[in-house]
Amino acid sequence: MDTPLMHGANNLDSHWMPFTPNRDFKKHAQFVSSASGMYYYTTNGHRLLDGIAGLWCVNAGHSHPKIVEAIQKQAAQLDFASSFGLGHPLAFDYANRLTSIAPEGLDHVFFTNSGSEAADTALKMALAYHHARGEGQRMRIIGRQRGYHGVGFGGLSAAGMGPHKKQFGMLLPGAAHMPHTHDPARNAFSRGQPQHGAEIADALEQMLQTYDPSTVAAVIVEPVAGSTGVLVPPIGYLERLREICSHNGILLILDEVVTGFGRLGRPFAADRFGVTPDLLMIAKGMTSGAVPMGGVIASGNIYETLTSSAAPGAVEFAHGYTYSGHPLAAAAGLAALDVYLSEGLFEHAAAVEPVWQDCAHRLRGLPGVVDIRNLGLLAGIELGADVASGKLLAKKVHDFCFEKGVLVRPVANTIVLSPPLIVSQAEIETIFETIAGVLKEL
Ligand SMILES: Cc1ncc(COP(=O)(O)O)c(C=O)c1O
Repeated sequence: MDTPLMHGANNLDSHWMPFTPNRDFKKHAQFVSSASGMYYYTTNGHRLLDGIAGLWCVNAGHSHPKIVEAIQKQAAQLDFASSFGLGHPLAFDYANRLTSIAPEGLDHVFFTNSGSEAADTALKMALAYHHARGEGQRMRIIGRQRGYHGVGFGGLSAAGMGPHKKQFGMLLPGAAHMPHTHDPARNAFSRGQPQHGAEIADALEQMLQTYDPSTVAAVIVEPVAGSTGVLVPPIGYLERLREICSHNGILLILDEVVTGFGRLGRPFAADRFGVTPDLLMIAKGMTSGAVPMGGVIASGNIYETLTSSAAPGAVEFAHGYTYSGHPLAAAAGLAALDVYLSEGLFEHAAAVEPVWQDCAHRLRGLPGVVDIRNLGLLAGIELGADVASGKLLAKKVHDFCFEKGVLVRPVANTIVLSPPLIVSQAEIETIFETIAGVLKEL
């Protein structure tokens, strides 16, 4: 295929793009070819203010010089080392650094290469943990409607987004789903956590009556549901889930792939909400998006139970990836963490949150806006009287904002926003004023 819009790629045929309407894209292709700080640059010289941190991941801003340098040095020193029975120091150093910022009690890191792999790893850890304790009958996984945990069979089974599942058959048996927490009738235009809905967590109790707690291995949720359009948990909801899980011997997995690494103004959402999971999933912001990496931070209890139940000399957890703890990713992760801490980016995110919230809520009353949700440096702007019209409008808002130099992300009928944590007050204003201008124009 050869189109005048290609701007730099010679041929668009071979790349089968993920989560993209390929035929449409290839007719109207848009490319970015470089990035720095808060901005992308397209191949035709257009500058784009990045309102979504790449894909919820570039928390330190694009091509941060310290992260770039760390990757370059590491590539020259040790390109690859397997972590299957052979160590390289960086993976250990990085795991130690991660546990030093993780919530108390979460002290062992298993490295993966993505959030999807983190989901499958956490679910397998939960099953293996119960198996090791002689409770192998705990096989059921409980997720939530509208949840997103990547695209592996495990994470997809626990997730609750129908359109992602319909092509793929039965998925894992034994996955069940709690209701989502979106309640616009009571909570529309909440600033921060909604007041109403803690009791939605009680649906878990009811499910335990249906299935019996002794069959349930884990509950998995995103603290703030991201990909479904930024659903902020009602006050008290996560605390209630934690209580029910603890009471019934069920592991709580928090998927912090989006919320980790300062997105909510603290290292993890677990810190912000004061709710500590048994397994905490990470990815994206780990390396500020510069090298693929994910992981699961597990409690000491899970690690000890699994390791001590295996025969001496045996592999305790039959799981791992060729690239688990990859040297380039570990180097990028260490550098990103240094940047986050030395530049105070988590604190900066917390400091600009009130500006972010105010600017977001100024869109209230504009044509098409039916709800605005925010927490930390996350926002969701729901559009349209119904999902179908909202979806069309969200796509148009994206296209018009792109033309005006601001990158936003449409997911179904919602515009989601999650800028790099370095975002300034002026850039926050630009993002929301651009969206406001486009909504008025449309
Ligand atoms: C909450 C959450 N979990 C898991 C994933 C999957 O991560 P990845 O795309 O790296 O596999 C995502 C990706 O957006 C996510 O938002």
